[in-house]
Amino acid sequence: MKFFLDTANYKALAEAKETGLLDGVTTNPTHLSKEGGNVSELIKKIASLLSPCDVSVEITEKDPCAIYTQAHEIAALAPNIVVKVPCFPEYLPLINKLVHEGVPLNITLLFSAVQGLCMAKLQVKYISPFIGRLEDIDSDGIELIHDLRQIVDIYAYETQILAASLRSTLHVHEVALAGAHCATIPVNIFQKMLDHPLTTKGMSLFDHDWQTLGIKKFP
Ligand code: G3P
Repeated sequence: MKFFLDTANYKALAEAKETGLLDGVTTNPTHLSKEGGNVSELIKKIASLLSPCDVSVEITEKDPCAIYTQAHEIAALAPNIVVKVPCFPEYLPLINKLVHEGVPLNITLLFSAVQGLCMAKLQVKYISPFIGRLEDIDSDGIELIHDLRQIVDIYAYETQILAASLRSTLHVHEVALAGAHCATIPVNIFQKMLDHPLTTKGMSLFDHDWQTLGIKKFP
């Protein structure tokens, strides 16, 4: 399973890279708004840090013609950029066109299995179902991942399911079992993934017992 970090924070990405667990990053306008500065330069810096891993960057235009131009401009920032486009009916022709032109796409704000089916049929690289936001409205985000994985497997689509809007380590566990190819994880969750109180307690107990031997150097 691929792990992406759901952030645009360079320092957090540099630290996460050192863990060896990181396969890419997903940014969005909210994340970028928290960083400020020269956004294009920040994206180039992140893309270079993580190369050749994928860096998702979302379009900010609304009109399909403007999005088409902007998508190409965003893709040209670095070779490992994936352009994020919302799963919106008016954008279908432009999504289709961009796929045929070889622009790697991550379809974001995706909330249903049929939306995912349509996007996989168009051969986009990633679809991003938003788990937490579905749960916010009492819908089952994990079941959606199960359904999407079945659809992708039955029809042998190459589209990868990138579980997004994850709010807990339990979400990471659940989307892994449900068959998501990738999970994009917020920084605070990524940092907690290896935490377990029994690991900490066990280490402390072993250390205490070892100290009773009074050995200065071992071996
Ligand atoms: O990857 C999408 C994510 O950033 C949205 O998360 O918690 O705002 O629903 P959230």
